[in-house]
Amino acid sequence: LSPSAPFTFEPNANPVPEAERMARLKDPGFGKTFTDHMVIVRYSEGKGWHDAKVTARGPISLDPAAAVLHYAQEIFEGLKAYRLSDGAMALFRPQANARRFNASANRMAMPELPEDMFIESCRALVKADADWFPDIDGGSIYLRPFMIANETFLGVKPSGDYLYIVIAAATGNYFKSGAPAVKLLVAEDDTRAAPGGTGAAKCGGNYAASLRAQSQAIARGFDQVVFLDAAERRYVEELGGMNLFFVFDDGSLQTPPLDGTILPGITRDSLLTLAREEGLAVREERYAIDQWRADAQSGRLVETFACGTAAVVTPVASVTGKDFSFTIGSGGPGQATQRLKQRLVDIQRGTAADIHGWVMRL
Ligand code: COI
Repeated sequence: LSPSAPFTFEPNANPVPEAERMARLKDPGFGKTFTDHMVIVRYSEGKGWHDAKVTARGPISLDPAAAVLHYAQEIFEGLKAYRLSDGAMALFRPQANARRFNASANRMAMPELPEDMFIESCRALVKADADWFPDIDGGSIYLRPFMIANETFLGVKPSGDYLYIVIAAATGNYFKSGAPAVKLLVAEDDTRAAPGGTGAAKCGGNYAASLRAQSQAIARGFDQVVFLDAAERRYVEELGGMNLFFVFDDGSLQTPPLDGTILPGITRDSLLTLAREEGLAVREERYAIDQWRADAQSGRLVETFACGTAAVVTPVASVTGKDFSFTIGSGGPGQATQRLKQRLVDIQRGTAADIHGWVMRL
């Protein structure tokens, strides 16, 4: 199969009835209002990628010895399709997701997927499920491309067979409350990623490792966990599924550097670009938890926000650790956070000029 070969389309013979779909789209939440179709492409050793199709969404069958079920050779992506203000459908920076997908594949000893096949898979699925755009504020179709190891073999080695799948979900806000500002709990016992580990890859294992700390945070009334670096337990890394930015009273911005333990967020990268264009001083530098606390208390730090495809830009209200707790600014959304978010959303929605070529119309 040549990378740009079209996907075979097998329309879902039993799509969700229109009335039911419209009812679900009123309040889709995040990651649960699935569309009618999915993409599947197979990979076999020697043959490469083949049998690309868009087909009815449904269960897949795996042999119980499929490698992914034992050694977690799995990677994924998250990107959104939007309805632009002029009615056209678009993807936001899908090339960046395609590149990151292959960087993750490389770290997990998986085969690369041609970038144009990644993009075409997203385009074909959104076109098949164009009826699933929620007509609500902040609504989009969230695409979840992923790859799993599918060889029936229990030896520990890279699998010879893989499945690449894309599913899609109509999506509103990631945080249930719409979260005007989130409360963070610092992970005391668990770290997310160590130097030389898989922290920069978007693999399921990173998220599995974050779940205990995340559920402890939720049980104690917080929204997200914040992880510190594994070596010194001192520097702020990221949340369970989002990058962090700090805003200072001199207008400057700081975010932890991409040194291998942090997920290279595409929203993070977009915001860095927009902030630099605004003339803001931007540092990609490590930030210690005690410094964060001291700066919040002295007023040098005025805002903190989390960002990601799912979370977009979400202000941080407070940070709690073992023996401290501090509020950031007023505890509500700050001005710089709001402004950057609006700039990003305006580009994503097609109401501001797309000078970077980030918006791919379908
Ligand atoms: C995203 O923001 O797309 C993510 O993948 C984070 C999370 C939902 C896992």
